[in-house]
Formats: sequence, structure tokens, C-alpha cells
Amino acid sequence: MTNVTIVGTQWGDEGKGKIVDWLSGEADIVVRFQGGNNAGHTIQNKGKVYKLSLLPSGITRGKKAIIGNGVVLDPWSLKKEIEMISNEGIIINKENLIIAENIHLILPIHKKIDEINEISRGSNLIGTTKKGIGPAYEDKVGRRGIRLCDLYNYKELSKKLENLIAYHNVILKSKKIPNFDSNKILNELIEISKFLIPFASPVWKYINKASSDNKKILFEGAQGSLLDIDFGTYPFVTSSNTLAGQINIGSGLGKNQQNYVLGITKAYTTRVGSGPFPTELKDSIGETLTERGNEFGTVTNRKRRCGWFDSVIVKQTAILNGLDALAITKLDVLDNFDILKICIGYELNEEKYDYFPFDTEVQKHIKPIYLSLPGWESSTVGINKWDNLPLNAKNYIQKIEEQTNCKVAVISTSPEREHTILLDKPFK
Ligand code: IMP
Repeated sequence: MTNVTIVGTQWGDEGKGKIVDWLSGEADIVVRFQGGNNAGHTIQNKGKVYKLSLLPSGITRGKKAIIGNGVVLDPWSLKKEIEMISNEGIIINKENLIIAENIHLILPIHKKIDEINEISRGSNLIGTTKKGIGPAYEDKVGRRGIRLCDLYNYKELSKKLENLIAYHNVILKSKKIPNFDSNKILNELIEISKFLIPFASPVWKYINKASSDNKKILFEGAQGSLLDIDFGTYPFVTSSNTLAGQINIGSGLGKNQQNYVLGITKAYTTRVGSGPFPTELKDSIGETLTERGNEFGTVTNRKRRCGWFDSVIVKQTAILNGLDALAITKLDVLDNFDILKICIGYELNEEKYDYFPFDTEVQKHIKPIYLSLPGWESSTVGINKWDNLPLNAKNYIQKIEEQTNCKVAVISTSPEREHTILLDKPFK
């Protein structure tokens, strides 16, 4: 029996939603283990489009969904998402969704703090999604956060909230910003608790039992490896660990079954928000990738920065995640190019790099070393067999395998579920 973990190998938005949705057909349970509603997964099937931020994508397939303790949860945003998906005929209740009792909550103040923090960063703006993700994780680590299980006892909740608000009000006062009102937030929390508490569960117990019962578990990563708080392009990162190693801490699963880690990789590279991006194309080729790939954020609708495929970062994140294989998405976006480039190394001041160093100044200034390949200049849209791919598309994929030192198991040729080439089966 195998579990499968899906992670993004670049800066997020690799098209994880489609692959998770497709694989969840075979899973019993789908689990989110980090991040929050900063994520955006688009799932398209038979003309229906679902845009999910917090709910594990497998829920649209009637699978048991778990939101693990590694996630930070905005209850109001979850409520809206559940209402939205219910309108599409997918009913969510405590039978198909459980949420870890020890999950930390994003409160309305966290969104406000996210905005204030961004303003105070001046020209070093991170470009966060302003969903309150970072401030909620800060309060978690600062040991003053509010967890789902804190909603069980309103009297104690009131004390915890006062402590939290007092901490933030000192900072607000120093910036001459009006104080937060803890009574108002308490009332909002009491109101939302009626909706949230029915989903609360000791997820760690459930997931370990499910694992020993040989249930197939799909771990659904959000964001991408280069946004990992430890191994990403710090400080231009998100506030959680996005690498596959986080699945245990973010869900409470102790002993792993055999775990197949699939790294989702766009056939080129994109990033939203600020921060270093060596292969970024600020020219008409970049514009073409944005247009053909419809590269606008699911959550914030921001235009994504686009560039050539960077095999150095994917080789690195393949090692960091312990990848078994890559899933290449959006191959069809490259259909019309006569020449394609793959970054195979960097150079700066006559020094060559075969990895992506941590020093932000080096990350900003290193220049990619490219390998040029001929494009295939024909449509790959909808192809679902390797043999039917044009020769130059096969060569492109094989070059990616060679340069990243990681085999390709899946190739996606359109947003539709069926338009997928399967070379190795993740669930064994
Ligand atoms: P935060 O996660 O909202 O704090 O934003 C921190 C950085 O991560 C910003 O550059 C965001 O644009 C980026 N980010 C957060 N979530 C995603 C995602 O799901 N896809 C791509 N980028 C993301």
C-alpha cells in the first residue's frame, strides 16, 4: 500500500489542483497539511470549474477530506467556500470533512496585520496574499494563537483573546493605528464556532488508524518548494514549510507507509509576488507565456511573472522533497515556440553555480546558463499517450528528466482530467 504526497517544485501555481483531483479518484482520504486560504486550486471537469483555497481538492470527488493542524484556518473563508461548493451540488458535512482540533485560527485581525506589515516593509515588499497567513503563524509560534479547540470554552477563550489582542494593540499604538476590539472579535468567534465545531476532530487519531487500516492517503501540498519558510527564497516566501517532510507534523501521522512523492512542475516557470526569479522573461516571450498559460492568480488575480524552465531549482527541490517523480503540467502552453530554453546552471562574477544558493543578493543577480532546444510548433492539447507527442516535445521532457535527475511520471496537456499522459502510477 502506498500513500501519495503532492508538492509544488517551483514557486507555487504549478497546477497541483488538477493532478490532486485526478489522483484523488484512487485515494480514500485527502489531506491538507500546511498553508491556508492563500492557496488556490482550480479543478476543471466536464465544463465545471471549482476554485478551492482551503478544502482539499478530493472533496469534489466525494472523498474524505482532512484539514490538518499544520494549516492555518480562516473560519469565515471556509464557510464561504463551503457555501460556494454547496451551490455546485457538493454537500460538505462532518462525514466528509474533519478539521484538526489543534489547528490555529486566522482571525480578522491577522488580515489587518498582514496589510500593516506589508506597508512597513517599504521597498522590500513580499507581496503576500493579505489573507493573514503570516501573522497567524507568527502568533502560533509566539504561543498566543487561538486554536479550534479553544472555541469549546468561551470563558477561557475570552482570556486568551484578551492576551492576544493586548499584544497586538501595543504595536498598533506605536504606529498610531486604532486598537483592535477584543469584545467584537470574541462575539464573532462565538458566532462562527457554531459552524466550525461540528468539524473538529483529533485528526492525529483518525489518520493513524486509517493508515494502519491500509487506507490510501493523498497529501495535498499548497504553494511551492521555493516558498518554503526554511528552504525557499527567504524572506520572499510563505510562512509554512511546504516541503514533503511537513506531512507528518502537519497532520499527526506518525509512521509513514510507503510514500510516493510526486513533484508538480510547470513546463516553464512562474512566480507571483516579489523575490528573485533567475529565468524571468520581461519581454514578449514572457507576455506570451502569461497569455497562453492564463497566468493570473486564483486567489488574488495578480498577473504571474513568467520565465523559462529552470532545471537547477527543480533538481534542488527534487532532492529536498525526496521526489519519486515529476508531473509536468501545461506542456501545451509551449506549443507555438520555435525555440525553447532550459536553465542548466547559473553564473555570477565568473563563478558558476550548479545549485540555487541562499544568499538573497546572489539569488537576485545570478544569470542563467541556458540550453536551447527546438520547439515542436504543433498542438499537444488533449494528448494522453506518450507515443502521440511530437518528437521535440518528447526530447524536451527527456531533457528535463536528464537535467533534474528525476523521472517524469505524468504529463498534463490541458486542464481537463482526461488530458493526461501516465507513465508511472503513483498509487501502487
Ligand atoms: P503569504 O503566503 O500570503 O504570506 O504570501 C507570501 C508569498 O507567497 C507571496 O509572494 C505570495 O504571492 C506567495 N504565495 C502564497 N500562496 C501562494 C500560492 O498558492 N501560489 C503562489 N504563490 C503563493
